[in-house]
Amino acid sequence: MSCKSAIGVCYGPRCSDFGSRDMAEELRQQGFEVEDLDCQSLCPHAPAIRVGDRFIHRATLEQVAERAEGQVTADSV
Ligand code: FES
Repeated sequence: MSCKSAIGVCYGPRCSDFGSRDMAEELRQQGFEVEDLDCQSLCPHAPAIRVGDRFIHRATLEQVAERAEGQVTADSV
């Protein structure tokens, strides 16, 4: 059974305006565990999404999924 790594999505107002909540929903549908985060003071870089202990600025779904999948691979080596 595979367990995909946890992702933190900023649910603050700015990131929400930039589609973070829709991205969180899409990531959940892809099987990722997604945590809702308050504003991370990264508003100029919205949407801010954390994978592991690092934030992706102006994140796209592709970047997040790619990094999260890479993290699973790195963790399991
Ligand atoms: S609203 Fe997302 S970092 Fe501020």
